[in-house]
Amino acid sequence: MAIAAAASALEKGEIARRLSEARARTLDLVAPLTDEQLNRVYSPLLSPLAWDLGHIANFEELWLVQRVGDREPLRGELGRLYDAIENPRVTRNELPILRGDELRAYMDGVRARTLHVLEDVDLDDPSRPLLRDGFIYEMLIAHEHQHGETMLQLLQMVEDYEPVARNDGPELEPAAGGPEMVRIEGGSYEIGHNGGGFAYDNERGRHTVSLEPFWIDRTPVTNGAFAEFVADTGAEPPRYWEPDGAGGWTRTVMGSTEKVDPQLPVIHVDHSQAEAFAGWAGKRLPTEQEWEAAATGADRERANLDQISFGCAAAGAYADGAAASGAVQMLGDVWEWTSSDFAPYPGFEPFPYPEYSEVFFGPRHKVLRGGSWATRRNVARITFRNWDLPERSQIFSGLRCVKEDT
Ligand SMILES: [Fe+2]
Repeated sequence: MAIAAAASALEKGEIARRLSEARARTLDLVAPLTDEQLNRVYSPLLSPLAWDLGHIANFEELWLVQRVGDREPLRGELGRLYDAIENPRVTRNELPILRGDELRAYMDGVRARTLHVLEDVDLDDPSRPLLRDGFIYEMLIAHEHQHGETMLQLLQMVEDYEPVARNDGPELEPAAGGPEMVRIEGGSYEIGHNGGGFAYDNERGRHTVSLEPFWIDRTPVTNGAFAEFVADTGAEPPRYWEPDGAGGWTRTVMGSTEKVDPQLPVIHVDHSQAEAFAGWAGKRLPTEQEWEAAATGADRERANLDQISFGCAAAGAYADGAAASGAVQMLGDVWEWTSSDFAPYPGFEPFPYPEYSEVFFGPRHKVLRGGSWATRRNVARITFRNWDLPERSQIFSGLRCVKEDT
């Protein structure tokens, strides 16, 4: 009994530490911004950052204070303002959301109550599936991490954004050479989360699929290759590219304009651009099952993840984090579009609520895999399924192609 109590106490300390680490990153991302910038609408595709901040706190209050702790909310009227499904992004700035000091006080107030509930809660209560293996805390930490990535989408549009901290590691990573494509054996592959540790409902249940042999690009598609495709076909260039007047391209993010680097993975392309590129190259996009089979063994500790690189590493970098197939950068750098619609796996059960995954299933959303430089390391895993509308390109999306084994 004493041992069990000690183990739980340690776990609670770790949960509190990780909640606080997630919050520190959120606040670092917005620290360089004025209140006016936090409340400005930069794009109809993205919420003002003040909405994201209020939503992060409100979602935490809903799950970690109200549901886990059975407490009344601090500000019951806020729930409807911060419901992501009820409030499309384009309307969010018109809402009477919290701003300025009131917003910061709410975030702090909720967090204090969360920690209070955490002290009291019995994490080992077998009658509460939400608490099993710390699920609900893992989900809330991941939620805050994932909103950081959404906020970084907007920060690409903020002029003169100067990060609090920047890690130049990826720029220093040597890019390894190798074949253009690697071969994946045909056969049976286990797809989906294997049951240990945290995963979302849509990653379960693990199931077997049978794949024909195929070839997959060893690295993500580069800016150089994409520029050739644009020159050859007149296709739309990636978001943030502008002609440089001399037949090349520049790219402007966070107010800084640079020549497009042909060695870096292409980023900010939508699904139809990705599909058109693949067709032009005589290839196609992978299914998400093919992607996951090719990614087996990729090491997230050796990948360009965790946000503060503020950009991609050269295609071919992080060769020591390669998947067993030899494909590199399956994790990190860019989310990779697949040809798959977002659909439930066999035996899917919504948990903890249908609005996480189930309401998005169907042909409207395409699956992206692998995480980007803007994804926290803790969130990235080879079974993680991201989904988005195919027309989206403000997300950190790129691609790699496959072809049949002939
Ligand atoms: Fe959210």
